[in-house]
Amino acid sequence: MSLLLGVNIDHVATLRQARYALNPDAPILEPSILEAAREAKAGGADSITVHVREDRRHMQDDDARLVRQEIDLPLNLELANTAEMVAFACDLKPDFACLVPEKREEVTTEGGLDVVGNQGSLRQTVATLQSLGIQVSLFIDSERDQIKAAADIGVEMIELHTGTFALTTGEEHESEIKRLQSGADLGSSLGLQINAGHGIQLENIKSLFSVKNLKELNIGHTLISRGLFVGIKSAVKEMKSAMQKYPDSSIR
Ligand code: PXP
Repeated sequence: MSLLLGVNIDHVATLRQARYALNPDAPILEPSILEAAREAKAGGADSITVHVREDRRHMQDDDARLVRQEIDLPLNLELANTAEMVAFACDLKPDFACLVPEKREEVTTEGGLDVVGNQGSLRQTVATLQSLGIQVSLFIDSERDQIKAAADIGVEMIELHTGTFALTTGEEHESEIKRLQSGADLGSSLGLQINAGHGIQLENIKSLFSVKNLKELNIGHTLISRGLFVGIKSAVKEMKSAMQKYPDSSIR
């Protein structure tokens, strides 16, 4: 079993909304979310991720529904822990749900979820989703208390936030790698599947490979960016091929 790749196609919706947000009934909306998901699958994606935000600024409900219906790959829905979004997830029934923090003013997801501070409501949401057969992940920073709280709530997976890893160099970068490793070690010792995501690129992925116990990477922005020049299928293929270098013995 090799390291799995979840392809986040949100940025295809970002581009579409830049033109059509005010004209959603235009005869042709482009670029096509479905076409992007098909290309990602053809390139070797193991799952497709979409983040339906509360303000619907990128992905729309129908985008997620269409990907669910038409694409024969596991679907990972990223969502905020709100009653409306949880009801949407229960209706969509993705294979995986990843709970993320959401602030309207942010450009993308910034920072992990505060599991410790929201244990009660998260526990309830996780139980609701799991009762429908949806496996749940929490997007968190690699912090001991957050990881322990996630395991205590009973999720199957955590996704470690690699945003700081991606934005730093030198000593700061090295210490971030250590922080990710201790989180991955703790999480797997508590029986959690360890995923990672945010800001991962071909240029920095190699240094992430020193972190053991990872099962899946969630990657979006760089694949859609590179897809502009080589096509999404090729961009995904390149990433999958780079991911083959993750030591097999590291995957739990
Ligand atoms: N994982 C989560 C929880 C995210 O919110 C995002 C960004 O939307 C990603 C992974 C992918 O990050 P990027 O687009 O930087 O590859």
